[in-house]
Amino acid sequence: MRVGCAARTDNDAVTKVRMAHPMVDVLSVSVFYASRGLVVIMPALFVAGPGMLELLKLLQDGRFHSGEALGAQLGISRSAIWKQLQGLEAEFGVEVFKVPGRGYRLASPMVLLDVERISRSAPGLHWPILVRSSVDSTNAEIFRRLDAGTPAPFVLMAERQTAGRGRRGRVWASPFAENLYCSLVLRVDGGMSQVEALSLTVGLAVARALQACGVEGARLKWPNDVLVDGRKISGILLELAGDPADVCHVVIGIGINVNMTFDAPGVIDQPWTSVRQCLGRAIDRNDLAVELLLQLHDCLSVHWQHGFAGLREQWEALHAWRGRSVALTAGSNATLGVVLGVDERGAIRLNVDGVDRAFSGGELSLRLQQ
Ligand code: BTN
Repeated sequence: MRVGCAARTDNDAVTKVRMAHPMVDVLSVSVFYASRGLVVIMPALFVAGPGMLELLKLLQDGRFHSGEALGAQLGISRSAIWKQLQGLEAEFGVEVFKVPGRGYRLASPMVLLDVERISRSAPGLHWPILVRSSVDSTNAEIFRRLDAGTPAPFVLMAERQTAGRGRRGRVWASPFAENLYCSLVLRVDGGMSQVEALSLTVGLAVARALQACGVEGARLKWPNDVLVDGRKISGILLELAGDPADVCHVVIGIGINVNMTFDAPGVIDQPWTSVRQCLGRAIDRNDLAVELLLQLHDCLSVHWQHGFAGLREQWEALHAWRGRSVALTAGSNATLGVVLGVDERGAIRLNVDGVDRAFSGGELSLRLQQ
């Protein structure tokens, strides 16, 4: 594995990390959790390949299917179906009921990401969309595909991430078929000024997508967290590849907690919520994925034409912490102030001892003071 240097822009939460070694979806040990309260920790050597996902698609209606019928539909034997079902349980924590004489059915119906449906519902984007059952990280997978020559732009979503990456080296909890893990890669020709404040623009798109799906309380925390009542519902990780002064690629990684209702102990270290918790019901992730891509497309078009200045007012309208007392930290240094807003370059403006000051940089982090 090659891991390059980390470079951050002045004014944005952009990190450059290159991982150029292909990884396969074969796990020697699986440790995971699922929303239905099932915890599985067992040795496994299953390939999370398309076959398993195809089987899951046949089962996702929640009805009984005989092994014979499933085998006929997938063109494999009943014993191969049995093996795949074991793989589903061990690898993804998907609970399957087996009833003699009736066949198999999922303990709870689930709706998988449907690439055709998403592409059909978001025409005119011209972003090819790929959906994988399991990757380490959708951002990392995009870097590998760029290295292999896949041209940008394209979108990659996964049903699960085994090493979802958060900001500042954190892990992003990514259970199977519960949330959205989505990365979009774009080619940037205009140098670093193009990506200035890009993460704020992406945050706005995410908040708008959530609102369109009924999460009216979605608000923005500088630079790019999306919160509902102070709890994080979405995080964004921008990573750059190439020469930032010339032609480069920006990978926009977005995680949205959608139907997750509990987290494995110790995985998430901050207050969080999900769309399901906000609405009191599960939603179809395909609808949110479509809305997300459409809002991203809209916001990015404005960004490329006018920069963040063209979106600043909308961002401010959803600003969670305006007027609040905060501590702005960079490493061990903290600056105390009251949030005034964001400027046209996406910097956070604080009133510090009566002086209006603007701060920017990927290492900065905001915390509320009481
Ligand atoms: C944060 O820490 O707030 C940023 C979290 C970003 C998570 C997303 S999920 C899709 C993409 N792939 C990753 O590995 N990370 C981002």
